[in-house]
Amino acid sequence: MGVNVPRIKLGSQGLEVSKQGLGCMGMSAFYGPPKPEPDMIKLIHHAINSGVTFLDTSDMYGPYTNEILIGKALKGGMREKVQLASKFGIFHQDGKREVRGEPAYVRSACESSLKRLDVDCIDLYYVHRIDTRVPIEITMGELKKLVEEGKIKYIGLSEASASTIRRAHAVHPITAVQLEWSLWSRDVEEELIPTCRELGIGIVPYSPLGRGFLSIGPKLLENASEGDLRKAYIPRFYDENLENNKLIYEKISEMATSKGCTPSQLALAWVHHQGDDVSPIPGTTKIDNFNDNIRALTVELSPEEMAQLSTLADNVKGDRYASMVSTWKNADTPPLASWKADA
Ligand SMILES: NC(=O)c1ccc[n+]([C@@H]2O[C@H](COP(=O)([O-])OP(=O)(O)OC[C@H]3O[C@@H](n4cnc5c(N)ncnc54)[C@H](OP(=O)(O)O)[C@@H]3O)[C@@H](O)[C@H]2O)c1
Repeated sequence: MGVNVPRIKLGSQGLEVSKQGLGCMGMSAFYGPPKPEPDMIKLIHHAINSGVTFLDTSDMYGPYTNEILIGKALKGGMREKVQLASKFGIFHQDGKREVRGEPAYVRSACESSLKRLDVDCIDLYYVHRIDTRVPIEITMGELKKLVEEGKIKYIGLSEASASTIRRAHAVHPITAVQLEWSLWSRDVEEELIPTCRELGIGIVPYSPLGRGFLSIGPKLLENASEGDLRKAYIPRFYDENLENNKLIYEKISEMATSKGCTPSQLALAWVHHQGDDVSPIPGTTKIDNFNDNIRALTVELSPEEMAQLSTLADNVKGDRYASMVSTWKNADTPPLASWKADA
């Protein structure tokens, strides 16, 4: 039976998206080997035909191959049906990564993404990680030019601090901020969410299923390959934290059973209940899991149930990322006055 997927306004510049999006990262990267292209194209078409039209990718997924996959999936009249979001800012060369936000890089990254996606315009283009060597005003200046040239429609930030969001928004309106927000990641509620709301910026929670842990618990790791990002770079998946974090999954699972829904639906419903300015982008590589997740839009939660679920994050053990990965907590940029154009 079909689910009616509501549409919401994201930000204050006119972008309208499905209330739930589709994270495409795991189709090509980080969670085991890339999945077969025909199956992923089928899944993307199924999502679009189900009303989930807000697609999330990045040039770093693969790297590059996820954008190529999306480009193929959007052939045959699909492009016009979707809101296409991509990201730039994490440069890859010879197996090394570097965060870059200088104007020439912004432009070349965007032009390369347009080619890989094989589209004239990206609807929502995010700064994936903030380059702490470049004043955000400088990065935004180039993004603003790309908007004026019609290469991108709206600008977003990912893993940006509150002060970076404010400074960027003063250069050109930010339409959406992408951040990790879920039953076990609630630190964004203190400063980032209120800042977005004050400025009329839409909120796009990534990893809303706790990268799958809130869906199936520690079982997730039993079949995970050695190169899986979660085993290597996400401390809350490390052996020493699993016993503790298992309890969070068990509580979600218990409440889901008593409500007659699945743990994934409960976790997503909690995010949906945060407001109409929020469109989470759960990732999946399976049509069955997609069908499970879309039904989260039908799950009602009382204020008491919301409150009960909201306490679970207090007991999580382990960070969201290992310390060498930059996050909004260490992502402020230097003042504009310090910038030398040819530095
Ligand atoms: N801005 C950033 O820095 C950033 C960082 C991370 C992610 N993202 C974006 O956010 C999207 C979502 O995040 P995510 O993929 O990291 O995590 P997620 O959405 O929290 O979880 C995805 C994981 O959950 C599993 N899953 C999904 N639905 C399920 C279900 N109903 N039952 C059982 N398992 C289920 C998936 O496995 P199956 O494939 O087997 O379904 C996958 O392993 C990504 O695709 C990406 O676009 C952005």
